[in-house]
Amino acid sequence: TKIALIIGGYTAESEVSFKSAEFVYGQLDQSKYDIYKITITTDSWFHVGGNGIKYVIDRDHFTLPMDEQVIHFDLAFIMVHGSPGEDGRLQGYFDMVGLPYTTCDALTSALTMNKAYTKAVLAGIPELYLAKSVQLFDAERAEAVDKIHRELSLPYFVKPNAGGSSIGMTKVNAEHELADAIEKAFNAENTGKQVIVEEFVKGREFSVGVYHRADGIFVLPATEVITEREFFDFEAKYVPGLTQEITPADLTSEQRARVERLVKAIYIRLNCKGMVRIDFFLEEGTDRFYFIEINTVPGQTAQSFIPQQVRAAGMTETAFYGELIEQALT
Ligand code: DAL
Ligand code: MG
Repeated sequence: TKIALIIGGYTAESEVSFKSAEFVYGQLDQSKYDIYKITITTDSWFHVGGNGIKYVIDRDHFTLPMDEQVIHFDLAFIMVHGSPGEDGRLQGYFDMVGLPYTTCDALTSALTMNKAYTKAVLAGIPELYLAKSVQLFDAERAEAVDKIHRELSLPYFVKPNAGGSSIGMTKVNAEHELADAIEKAFNAENTGKQVIVEEFVKGREFSVGVYHRADGIFVLPATEVITEREFFDFEAKYVPGLTQEITPADLTSEQRARVERLVKAIYIRLNCKGMVRIDFFLEEGTDRFYFIEINTVPGQTAQSFIPQQVRAAGMTETAFYGELIEQALT
């Protein structure tokens, strides 16, 4: 089976993509799969051969001409976080050229890249809470501060509406910090010029992986994230040692069962495929799970949660990634 492992991308998360892809590459069963790393940047799609030569993808067919031969792939293993790997663009392209891929389809990827639209679709799932939020469009930048002031109460999380890895995100504790935070979120590169401002939910933070395997939807053990920083920001996510991650999380059996129900309901309602990761806050004092966001190309770096959760579930990463490939091929 010939696999194109797709890496890179257009956003600041490409840095994370290279680490995720390195990890996945190291775990994939090389005796079963013939893996070609394909890097996607805004100006080139290419593979660097063992000889150091850069071979460019033929985008009409997604084939790889290499010296005398042309490589035809069986599957794209998409490991690009953010645009164009997590927002439906590559998914739509692969649909057009007829190549199966490991992620959610184009519609689900595009929808879930937009945090505000995702929340609108998830409203009404029993036992799932959504923090009060406001979506800001580029056309209303001038009135943004007043609008937030009118509609929400401090503290706020201000994020690019289509971002990842907390890039461009600020926790705002005082009203005078809001204008700068909104500008910063609007200015995050390639995130669609929309911002979401959410009311802060005080409590514990959890992240839960889920995927579809031969016997149905399988929810991985949850991870609790405990950070000394203001929130689980980019540094906390990728600098080892800044965060304590507990897998499996210390939850009661009732809470564990509830998380599993919520995760399955979200996976089904968003018509997900492959592995995704869903983040929650458990509100202090109320025991309510609040949806934070869903990641349809979740990080697979050595610091990421899904590999930890896979091991905690008693599986190897090699078997897990192998299952994702087999499911995507069926
Ligand atoms: N957006 C990052 C890669 C994650 O969800 O893990
Ligand atoms: Mg994310």
